[in-house]
Amino acid sequence: MFNYKRWLKISGGLSAGVVMLFAATLFASSEDVIHIDQFISPDTCSGCHSEIFEQWENSMHSLAHKDPVYSRVSQFLRKGLINEGEIKEAESCVKCHTPVGYLTGFPQKLSDDLSKTPEIATQGIQCDYCHSAETVKQMYNNGLVLKPGQGEDEPGIKYGPFDDAEPDFHEAEYSKLHTESEICGTCHDVKHVAFGTDLETTYTEWKNSPYNSKDPQQKITCQGCHMYQRPGIPATGSTPRPENPGAATDYSDERPHIFTHYFVGGNASVPGQFDGEAKGQMAIERLKNAATLSVDTSLIQQKKLNITVSNTGAGHSIPTGVGDLRQVWLEITIQDKANKINFQTGVLNHRHELSKDAVIFRTIFGDGKGNEVINIAKARQVLKDNRIKAKQSVTETIDLSVVPEKDAMIIVRLLYRGMPQKILNLIPGKPFEPLPIVEMAKVQKRI
Ligand code: HEC
Ligand code: HEC
Ligand code: HEC
Ligand code: HEC
Ligand code: HEC
Repeated sequence: MFNYKRWLKISGGLSAGVVMLFAATLFASSEDVIHIDQFISPDTCSGCHSEIFEQWENSMHSLAHKDPVYSRVSQFLRKGLINEGEIKEAESCVKCHTPVGYLTGFPQKLSDDLSKTPEIATQGIQCDYCHSAETVKQMYNNGLVLKPGQGEDEPGIKYGPFDDAEPDFHEAEYSKLHTESEICGTCHDVKHVAFGTDLETTYTEWKNSPYNSKDPQQKITCQGCHMYQRPGIPATGSTPRPENPGAATDYSDERPHIFTHYFVGGNASVPGQFDGEAKGQMAIERLKNAATLSVDTSLIQQKKLNITVSNTGAGHSIPTGVGDLRQVWLEITIQDKANKINFQTGVLNHRHELSKDAVIFRTIFGDGKGNEVINIAKARQVLKDNRIKAKQSVTETIDLSVVPEKDAMIIVRLLYRGMPQKILNLIPGKPFEPLPIVEMAKVQKRI
C-alpha cells in the first residue's frame, strides 16, 4: 500500500505545499520561463519507482553530464577556435548533455563555469526531464517542449505510456510521444548549429530503415529494443524481445510490460567507472548481437578475400551516434598450418592505434574543401560514410599480399571501441586508459 508518511517526508510537509501553490500562480503568469526548482530529483522518484531508478542510475543518460570522456573531449574541442560558427557549435553541447540546466538558465554554454551547475542538473537526462515532455518542436538538437510541475509539493503531470494510471503523488497522463521513436530521436539527431552538417543521425537512420514499418506488427521503435533489454536479454533485431511483466512502483498492480530504463548502447566502459559494471556487461551483450560476418574465398587465387558484414540486430547504422568517433573494424588474420601468421590487418600497435590500412566503418567529416577534420565544430561536410545500415550488408574486398598456402586458416573478427586512441592521446591531462575492445562477431575458415 501507499505509504502516506513517506510521501510527507518526501514532500517536506504541507505548509511548504501552500507556499509552492502560491509560487505556482506566480510562475504561471511568467510563461515559458522554467525554474530549476520546478524539477524533482530522481531520488524522490526512486521512493516509489525504485526498480526503474536502479536501472537508470549510472546509465549513460544519468551520466550525460558527468561522463569524463564527454567532458574532456568537449573541453578539448572548444580550445583554440576563432571562427564564430565553430565556437557556436563547440559551446552547444550542454543542450543535450546537461538539459535541465540548459532549460532553466545555467549552464547556457560549455565555457560557463560548470562547477556551478546546480546539483539536480548534474544528473543528466533524468526522470522528470523526459516525463515532463509534452511535445517536440523540431526533430534534431533536442526540440523537446516541457511542462514540468512546481517541484515536489505540486509535481504536476508525468506523461507516460499508461492511460489508466492513478498515482497518489503526481498526476499522470497518457502520452503518444512517449511510445514513439520521436521522443528519443530529437536528441539522437544532431546537426551543426551554424553549418547544418549532420553530425549524428541515429533517428534518421532508423526512420529510413525497415524497422520503421507502416505495419504496426512489424514496426520496432527505439523503445522496442532499448527499453526491453535487461541482463541476459539483449533485445536486439536478431534476438527475442520478450515482455517484462512487473509493476511500475513497489506497490502497484502488475502489468504485462514495464519498459526498462537501462538505456544501454555500445558504451562498455563509462558506466563501470560509476558502479555500473552490470551495464558495461549489457553493452557487450548488445554489441555481440548486432552483426554477423561471412568470408568468401572464391577469389583467393587472385589474392582477394571478400568479407561481408551484415547488420542483423541494430535499428540504425553500425556504428551509430557519434559515428566519427566510434570505431567498428575488421581484424583479419591468416595463419599457416603451424599457426604462423602470414597476413594480418586491423591490429593495434603498441600505442593502441589502428594502422591506416584497416577497414573501419565510420563517418569522416570535412572542412568544406575536402580535407578531413576531427573536430566536429569544424565539420562543414560529410566526406565519407561507409557504416552498415539497418538490415543491410556491406562486402569488403581485401587485397592479400600473397596467396595463402593450402590448409591455411582465415580468422576474421568485427571489433568495436568507443573512440580512436589517437584522439584520446591528444587530450591534455591524465592519460586515458585504453577503451575496452569488444568482439562483435568472429568467423574462421580453412582454405
Ligand atoms: C530518456 C527519457 C527517459 C528517462 C530519462 C526516464 N524515462 Fe521513464 N519512460 C520513458 C519512456 C519513453 C517510457 C515509455 C516507453 C514506451 O511506452 O514505449 C517510460 C516509461 C516509464 C514509466 C511507466 C512504466 C514503465 O516503465 O513502462 C515510469 C513509471 C517511468 N518511466 C518512470 C521513470 C523514472 C522514475 C525515471 C528516472 C529514474 C525515468 N522514468 C527516466 C522515458 C524516460
Ligand atoms: C509516492 C509514490 C510516487 C512517486 C514519489 C512518484 N511516482 Fe510516478 N507513479 C506512481 C504510481 C502509483 C504510478 C502508477 C503506476 C501504475 O498505474 O502502474 C505512477 C506512474 C508514473 C508514470 C506513468 C504515467 C502514465 O500515465 O503512463 C510516470 C511516467 C511516472 N510515474 C513518473 C514519475 C516521476 C518522473 C517521478 C519523480 C519526479 C515519480 N513518478 C514519482 C507513484 C509515484
Ligand atoms: C535530452 C536528450 C535525449 C533524449 C530525449 C534521449 N537521449 Fe539517449 N542519450 C542522450 C545523450 C546526450 C547520450 C550520451 C551520453 C554520453 O555518452 O555522455 C545518450 C545516450 C544514449 C544511449 C547510450 C549510448 C551508448 O553509447 O552506450 C542509448 C542506448 C540511448 N541514449 C537511447 C535513447 C532512447 C531509447 C531514448 C528514448 C526513449 C533516448 N535515448 C532519449 C540524449 C538523449
Ligand atoms: C532493432 C533493435 C534496435 C532499434 C529499433 C534501435 N536500436 Fe539502438 N542499438 C541496437 C543495437 C543492437 C546496438 C548496438 C550496436 C551499435 O552500436 O550500433 C544499438 C546501439 C545504439 C546506440 C549506441 C551507438 C554506438 O555505437 O555508440 C545508441 C545511441 C542507440 N542505439 C540509440 C537508438 C535510438 C535513438 C533508436 C531509435 C531511433 C534506436 N537505437 C533503435 C538495437 C536497436
Ligand atoms: C542534440 C543533442 C546533442 C548535442 C547538442 C551534443 N551531443 Fe554529444 N551525444 C549526444 C548523443 C545522443 C550521444 C550518444 C551517441 C552515441 O552513443 O554514439 C552523444 C555522445 C557523445 C560523446 C560520446 C561519449 C562517450 O562516453 O563515448 C561525446 C564525446 C560527445 N557526445 C561530445 C559532444 C560534444 C563535444 C558536443 C558539443 C560540441 C555534443 N556532444 C553535443 C547528443 C548530443
